Amino acid sequence: MSYKAEYQRSMDDPEGFWKEKAEALKWYKFPQKILSQDSDGIYHWFADGEMNTCYMAVDVHVENGRGDQAAIIYDSPVSNTKRTITYKELQQEVAKTAGMLKGLGVEKGDRVILYMPMIPEAVIGMLAVARLGAIHSVVFGGFAPPELAVRIEDSSPKVILTASCGIEVSRVIAYKPLLDKAISLSSHKPNACVVFQRPEATAELKEGYDYDWTTLAAQAQPAECVPVKGTDPLYILYTSGTTGKPKGVVRENGGHAVALNYSMHAIYNVKPGEVFWAASDVGWVVGHSYIVYAPLLRGATTIVFEGKPIMTPDAGTFWRICEEYKVKALFSAPTAFRAIKKEDANGDFLKKYDLSGLTNIFSAGERLDPPTQEWLMEKSGKQVIDHWWQTETGWGITANLQGIEPMPIKLGSSTVPTPGFNVKILDDGGQELPAGEQGFIAIKLPLPPSCLATVWGDVQKFKDSYLSMFPGYYASGDGGYIDQDGYVFVMGRVDDVINVAGHRLSTGEMEEVVGAHPAVAECAVVALDDDLKGQVPIGLVVLKTGVDIDQATLSKELINDIRAQIGAIACYKDTYIVKRLPKTRSGKILRKSMRQMINGQPYAVPSTIDDPGIMPEIEAHLRELGVIK
Ligand code: COA
Ligand code: AMP
Repeated sequence: MSYKAEYQRSMDDPEGFWKEKAEALKWYKFPQKILSQDSDGIYHWFADGEMNTCYMAVDVHVENGRGDQAAIIYDSPVSNTKRTITYKELQQEVAKTAGMLKGLGVEKGDRVILYMPMIPEAVIGMLAVARLGAIHSVVFGGFAPPELAVRIEDSSPKVILTASCGIEVSRVIAYKPLLDKAISLSSHKPNACVVFQRPEATAELKEGYDYDWTTLAAQAQPAECVPVKGTDPLYILYTSGTTGKPKGVVRENGGHAVALNYSMHAIYNVKPGEVFWAASDVGWVVGHSYIVYAPLLRGATTIVFEGKPIMTPDAGTFWRICEEYKVKALFSAPTAFRAIKKEDANGDFLKKYDLSGLTNIFSAGERLDPPTQEWLMEKSGKQVIDHWWQTETGWGITANLQGIEPMPIKLGSSTVPTPGFNVKILDDGGQELPAGEQGFIAIKLPLPPSCLATVWGDVQKFKDSYLSMFPGYYASGDGGYIDQDGYVFVMGRVDDVINVAGHRLSTGEMEEVVGAHPAVAECAVVALDDDLKGQVPIGLVVLKTGVDIDQATLSKELINDIRAQIGAIACYKDTYIVKRLPKTRSGKILRKSMRQMINGQPYAVPSTIDDPGIMPEIEAHLRELGVIK
């Protein structure tokens, strides 16, 4: 099948196309309604189908004779642990864990938060929640208590699953005190917390409220899969938007299972029994989709890796794992590859390992910069494939479809739209732009299966954030262009979202923290380009009149504030005191112009600027400080 034919079918007959893809899975009741719209006009897939995602991802494979095949390989250089879990063992563990949650009162539709490090229990916990027809919300372990508190408040979980600690290279981070702090900050209190005790740290448990995971699961009755509708939510995953409060992206069971299973074949060309490795974290969407659900739905083996691309112990870790477990396809973020490149420019580690089983390396999370892509292709001898996606879609919007028709790679492009995604470039008036012209990247509705159905508890926010900018389209928040051959080039966010090491963060949220410092009158947090992490945030601040604080002290205090309020992963780097900030006459701070300026790019200043003298003044000041090179 050619890419063109496959893509065209998905456009001409979306319902027929996705009905056929849905047939690859085992439903309790196959859907009759393939695509429908609700009273708000929002599209949904497979509304009347009955299913259970955990059943499709685990039990089915045991029923089909794959019980003894490895489902999960856990490799943790930071705790010196390796463990293989077969599908049969996974089924037993998940059923017990689901029984444990049921015993704590969790039922279909209830929410369960997971605040977990990269250990198999994180995957088991997610699947156990899905088994009960409940809704999980995984919060990345690097988020600080106030961020966790916002998610507890918004999703009102009945139970929280956690572990006694995470391990950052060699630093043990106790999770329980962070969780306790978050619960104290939230007005919603869960009924119970279940803690997986790790040997590296023991959490103190409050009797009658905190439970030991291992003890409780051992006592539990295994729980059966609870049937849900195709449109019942599987999970909520919070992601950063332009404003302070994160948005709870809601993923529905049916479309998610169908699209992810299809993607394992179409994009990654991975068959049942093969090993697929997404080197990410279950706290991010890549982890949800490609550490947990997609490989398991496909009956493949997934790797849960607890470590970093470097330092655990060296820049050869990725390649050691690929050799040891015969990984067929590896998926990680450009930052990880840049970190490896920095430490192993000659590719000596790559030569040390047998990578004959590895066919492709996939990258997403941020744009794969051409020098890194070229380096990795040259040193590994593999095709290195960039693909573009978002938390909102849950899978690749554009990709180079290895299971359909591999296409020539163009550096800097994430190749072509994935079947189901009708990608268009629009100008700010919503008119379609011709090939080669840069504009807003939008996707014509309906979106294909797996894309978000709403924002948790706030359908209006969903409409306002994504559907109202261009009626009839989903506004991606990214800008870019499509060339003459139909290749998509994603050039970056058009809003105030910042991408730090493949992690999506909101500058608006950071501004709230910086602006709350007693010395700060007003501020703008903007992205400074960074060789390793892609972008890092810096703050430009105006001091309150009469305040006397030096820049270094203020910077140190703000770094601590951001670490405490958002988390170390924000990588807030520095603060610069300026006399004034550039604004439009209506008072809007010109963040984009400042971002261009600090990165040494030509910057545009709108005619509505209040005082045209401010930009050159700030530029001269930042040049003097060495921020602008
Ligand atoms: N729990 C607690 N803290 C965490 C954490 C977690 N799960 N993850 C990261 N952190 C902390 C780190 O310890 C670090 O803290 P520090 O400033 O006190 O040292 C900070 O957050 C920044 O972490 P990180 O971005 O991982 O930077 P690093 O310097 O430790 O490592 C890289 C650099 C390039 C190796 C790392 O950024 C990396 O692996 N990037 C790839 C990310 C990725 O896979 N993204 C994919 C999303 S699809
Ligand atoms: P997240 O929701 O955290 O996955 O972040 C999604 C955002 O990351 C997108 O909106 C893009 O800005 C960026 N992104 C992800 N993958 C790519 C890619 N391959 N090329 C360019 N940008 C990307």
